[in-house]
Amino acid sequence: MPSQKIYIFDTTLRDGEQVPGCKLNTSEKVELALELESLGVDIIEAGFPISSPGDFESVTQISRTIKDAVICGLSRAVQKDIEVAAQALKYARRGRIHTGIGTSDYHIKSKFNSTREDILNRAVQCVKWARNFTDDVEFYAEDAGRTDNEYLARVIEAVIAAGATTVNIPDTTGYCLPQQYGEKISYLVNHVSNIDRAVISCHCHNDLGLATANSISGVISGARQIECTINGLGERAGNTSLEEVVMILKQHKDLDLYTDINSKQLNPLSRKVSETMRMPVQPNKAIVGANAFSHSSGIHQDGFLKDAQTYEIINPEEVGAEESKIVLTARSGRSALAHRFHKLGFQYTRDDIDILYLAFLKLADSKKEVMEEDLAQLAREYQPEI
Ligand code: KIV
Ligand code: ZN
Repeated sequence: MPSQKIYIFDTTLRDGEQVPGCKLNTSEKVELALELESLGVDIIEAGFPISSPGDFESVTQISRTIKDAVICGLSRAVQKDIEVAAQALKYARRGRIHTGIGTSDYHIKSKFNSTREDILNRAVQCVKWARNFTDDVEFYAEDAGRTDNEYLARVIEAVIAAGATTVNIPDTTGYCLPQQYGEKISYLVNHVSNIDRAVISCHCHNDLGLATANSISGVISGARQIECTINGLGERAGNTSLEEVVMILKQHKDLDLYTDINSKQLNPLSRKVSETMRMPVQPNKAIVGANAFSHSSGIHQDGFLKDAQTYEIINPEEVGAEESKIVLTARSGRSALAHRFHKLGFQYTRDDIDILYLAFLKLADSKKEVMEEDLAQLAREYQPEI
């Protein structure tokens, strides 16, 4: 059993909900929060309370309902934001304020027309202000992915001294390579003198398809929290996908890292989130896509039928998916055909299958997938010579 826990911070209801067309109402959010709690998520980012009365209400209701997970509310480095977040979290058994500011030169100059010193000062002030309301304060250094490491380390050291208990290092634009992101985390581990007083968190976006890889690189380098969403939903190309990081850590026990997620709930919850947020899951999505456990080429099907582990590293049951599928296409081979006939109750000999295979290929070349009813028709038409 791995010895080091990775905290799963789910932001489906906040960063995930920032996807265009994904608006959720309060009761949908409360329902999903209950599912996330049952999944074993440690922290639920319930929303951005100052952003709208609806979001305030959602964070309030989730705070009243959830008993085990920490409930987190986002704010900018603005006193009023922090106060409103604290108010929305008032009923939470365990509430966290997530506050922060952009630290890259893009943010400092273009967004704030400011200086590094002023931003550092504002970062410290917002953490101090948040600590008036809760002991659990997370600081985010927005665009940390493109922030100079030396300056980032100064900011992080100062906010920890001011009372931040978690420090979030977002790759907001999904820019970093896994090695770069890992080095950034290592740099902080080695250069922030008080880093042992806070948990380092990875928050990676998927603009280059690297969000999961970067988060894993982050925890290998010493981060102990991953911020992620169900199905990888989120702004633009999305956030780190919860199901992917959880299963990577489960598969790679050698990393000595574990989460408390009940992986059997991953597929049911993926479907629920997809339906509630009206965001279809791409069929080839790892862990939760419709094709994640489908085999369609002859070579793979033959190997899989001899020993599932030849072509599957995860048992679908472990992630609550339906059993693996042998899909019949023009790329399928005889063993897959025999297997599917067998499942339908037909016990054919090798010679039978050789003949049926020719008819099958003819049919398969004319359609995308050969279905059960097609097989039944082939069986009806087949007249073995006696
Ligand atoms: O991507 C980001 O930087 C964020 C922060 C607000 C945490 O979502
Ligand atoms: Zn984000």
